[in-house]
Amino acid sequence: MTDREHPAPPQPAGAITEEGLSHEYYWRHMRRRGRATRRTAREILALVRRFGRPGPLLELGVGLGFLLRGLRDQLPPATPLYGLDLDPLMIDYARQVTAGLANVHLLVADVRAPLPFADASQQTVCLEHTVHHLDSVDGVFREIARVLAPDGVCVLIDFDPRCWWSRVFLFGYPWIKRMRIPWPIAEAVYRSLRRSLSFAELERLAAAAGLRVVHRARRRLDHLLILARNS
Ligand SMILES: C[S@@+](CC[C@H](N)C(=O)[O-])C[C@H]1O[C@@H](n2cnc3c(N)ncnc32)[C@H](O)[C@@H]1O
Repeated sequence: MTDREHPAPPQPAGAITEEGLSHEYYWRHMRRRGRATRRTAREILALVRRFGRPGPLLELGVGLGFLLRGLRDQLPPATPLYGLDLDPLMIDYARQVTAGLANVHLLVADVRAPLPFADASQQTVCLEHTVHHLDSVDGVFREIARVLAPDGVCVLIDFDPRCWWSRVFLFGYPWIKRMRIPWPIAEAVYRSLRRSLSFAELERLAAAAGLRVVHRARRRLDHLLILARNS
């Protein structure tokens, strides 16, 4: 089944995502990104193999579930995968996107609360564009350090507010807005970029929670960090 063939589950009219987009718009836009998401899944798993090892994987802020499905498609079928999201409508979508896939477990939960997983139970924890949604990340990083296995890694992808593209975008978007071009995704990216943390801020918060950065890759608008436990 291709990404376009997933029918959207019925949504209450006017339901809004955490990013401030209507659910219906978010679904229509994001489901076209299936190929890019599979590329990201390949990139993540290559780094997991380099800095850790594949095993139980937890995605915090699973959204529509495309990344989790991409990861599942490239891991041994018995690997348990868990996806967690605050928004029950996102979990509805993710259930459709991962329907029929064994070992995928989805749950509605807030990542700012203690994670419902045992200590050292996960080989990989992923956050793809989730961190900029959070008002505070120190508690989340501490929980990640707790649930990660000693040789596990956390893969964090989020907008990089200091990169060249972000600076151009942050500078240029208010002009686009003034021209009244209806471009809700750009508006959401602009809001997200303004809430994003720089590499230095993330590194400092991770260190305070007992995690260290072992790898950093710059992408166009975002950066990818690999965090490992200090001990
Ligand atoms: C950009 S989306 C992730 C996209 C996802 N990787 C995919 O492939 O579709 C970020 C997600 O984080 C979720 N989120 C925001 N704050 C959260 C919180 N406090 N706890 C759990 N999930 C949260 C949002 O509901 C949203 O679905």
